[in-house]
Amino acid sequence: MLRTDALTRLQSTGQYALELEAVSRHFGALVALADINLTVKAGERRAVLGSNGAGKTTLFNAITGDFPPTTGRVRLFGEDVTDLSIHERIRRGLRRTYQISLLFDGLSVVDNVYLACRGASRGRLSLRRPKPDDAMTHAAETLLDAVHLGAERESLVSELSHGQQRQLEIALALAGAPRFILFDEPAAGLSPTERSELIEILQSLPTHIGFIIIEHDMDVALRVAESVTMMHNGRIFKEGNPEEIENDPEVQELYLGGGHA
Ligand SMILES: Nc1ncnc2c1ncn2[C@@H]1O[C@H](COP(=O)(O)OP(=O)(O)OP(=O)(O)O)[C@@H](O)[C@H]1O
Ligand SMILES: [Mg+2]
Repeated sequence: MLRTDALTRLQSTGQYALELEAVSRHFGALVALADINLTVKAGERRAVLGSNGAGKTTLFNAITGDFPPTTGRVRLFGEDVTDLSIHERIRRGLRRTYQISLLFDGLSVVDNVYLACRGASRGRLSLRRPKPDDAMTHAAETLLDAVHLGAERESLVSELSHGQQRQLEIALALAGAPRFILFDEPAAGLSPTERSELIEILQSLPTHIGFIIIEHDMDVALRVAESVTMMHNGRIFKEGNPEEIENDPEVQELYLGGGHA
């Protein structure tokens, strides 16, 4: 975990958590990302909005290395990671959640988080049963509390509600020492109550952890993010603070389709 003084120094030097320079991604003839230039400061919380197929998930894949860019460079905390593996980016503090759940269904909630803590540590992965006083079990429990799942510790993942599963995914992303997290539509399919809980969880994350959240619901995005990037057809067409974006006539025309009038 970054010490506070180190974080202050990072922020005062204006270091970027993330810099994308002329990033594109092609799938055959399809241009899913075209010439993306994007910077996000250390600790900043950004929402990415855009219609289906705009290129939002492809943007995440380019950042994490799941599908590296066709052209362009990606820098993480000042370091060029374009040619690094997914795992090497994770070791540098990058995390993500997926649009489709990747949880271990047959395991308990606490075991899922425990495995994520083990996987994120530099030690070798061991499937030994944890001892009760194990520091990593303690870390797992702290993370469960952070995502409001302390009471579901022993439940199987398959017994959790959809919203609780999304909360567990956030706990997995928090394992180890994340510095920057990419959330891919964590609010999709949530009930209004689950949505409020998600907002609360995201708002209470440690302040040094920056993130990008892909979100279709403008209300969720505007409540957890201090800056907004709008995408359309593989391009960024607008950036600003939530208020500017919400009141932008072009955004209203294209994204809200007049429905929010
Ligand atoms: N692995 C892939 N192979 C081929 N085409 C892909 C692949 N991944 C994405 N695409 C295409 O790239 C474009 C952007 O897709 P992407 O998944 O990034 O959109 P999105 O903004 O995340 O949309 P949604 O809101 O539906 O999740 C789409 O036309 C999609 O079909
Ligand atoms: Mg997507």
